[in-house]
Amino acid sequence: MSEPILEFDDVSIKYRTRGGGAVHAVNEASFTIGEHEYFGLVGESGCGKSTIADSVVGGLDENGEVTSGAIRFKGTEIQDYSEKQFNKHIRWKEIAVIPQSSMNSLDPVMKLSDQAIEMAKYHTDLSKREAVDRLRELFGVVGIPESRIHDYPHQFSGGMQQRTIIAFSLFLRPSLIIADEPTTALDVIMQDQILDYINALKDDWDVSMLMITHDISIVFENCDTMAVMHGGQMAESGSVIDVFDRPRHPYSILLQNAFPDIRYPDRELAVIDGYPPQLTERPDYCTFADRCPWATQECYEGAPGPETVDGNPAHRAWCIRADEMESLAEEHLTASTQATNILEETHE
Ligand SMILES: Nc1ncnc2c1ncn2[C@@H]1O[C@H](COP(=O)(O)OP(=O)(O)O)[C@@H](O)[C@H]1O
Ligand SMILES: [Mg+2]
Repeated sequence: MSEPILEFDDVSIKYRTRGGGAVHAVNEASFTIGEHEYFGLVGESGCGKSTIADSVVGGLDENGEVTSGAIRFKGTEIQDYSEKQFNKHIRWKEIAVIPQSSMNSLDPVMKLSDQAIEMAKYHTDLSKREAVDRLRELFGVVGIPESRIHDYPHQFSGGMQQRTIIAFSLFLRPSLIIADEPTTALDVIMQDQILDYINALKDDWDVSMLMITHDISIVFENCDTMAVMHGGQMAESGSVIDVFDRPRHPYSILLQNAFPDIRYPDRELAVIDGYPPQLTERPDYCTFADRCPWATQECYEGAPGPETVDGNPAHRAWCIRADEMESLAEEHLTASTQATNILEETHE
């Protein structure tokens, strides 16, 4: 594996709530993103994905706090950085964030070229002209006519604004881009286009990506490595090929079956009943157990630790039954296909 850019080492994050309570949004999460690696983090809404993204740039909500573990960026621990340290050393310069909605991240009353000049003034030695030239070049990268760099944000459509944000996120040549559901607010055609641009960046820039989404097929198509999260816990991590071909956590298996797969065009899409829990206490059990077709009593008796899959240390599943999952899943999926066939026959 390449040099690590970002390491999460046993990180727990909680939010204090009114009345002295707490939400344990992330519990003992571990993963590593290497140089030039596109890493996808996937899970349904409420799993803790944005909390992870926010913690990397010091952007946790006021009531949020990293309570244990280490977050290392290029080998330096940053979990205890102050807002000032994050702004000086990390934000934009080293790590840029493409937020879910671009609406609030551009200054509405400032020309885009002026925003680039401001950014360059604060963070670089570039002259005004160099700043404008760089923005022009980046507009080329994201497919917006260069002549539009002197426009105001409101003159752009939603999709163009989102691409403008991508251009700005690249402006200071960061080592890591965090894209938190970058296309969720866009229509399908625009989504594809944006993902194509993000993907193409890999060829032109030496950049790593933390791509966050609820759609596992987006990760399969655009990333090299990935992690699946459920209810504030890690479920599975590994290369995209490992998790695609040999998923070993029940949640990864069901999530994969919940999206269309060209390999099985006739397959029924699985529905995962229920929701990830809101964790008012630190979970000392598997948070997927209540939704899992294969849960046993033991799943409620401790938070699962990572199990190495097939002797491959880069592929891990946080499930005590990981080594049985291949056969269990096969039986389950065959059984549900049979049930569908029987149903279809009786309806003919
Ligand atoms: N400021 C906050 N205060 C209290 N709870 C929060 C706050 N922000 C997020 N949460 C809770 O933390 C959990 C994880 O949220 P989040 O990281 O936004 O998940 P995701 O991005 O996967 O949808 C959820 O249960 C959410 O309700
Ligand atoms: Mg989120």
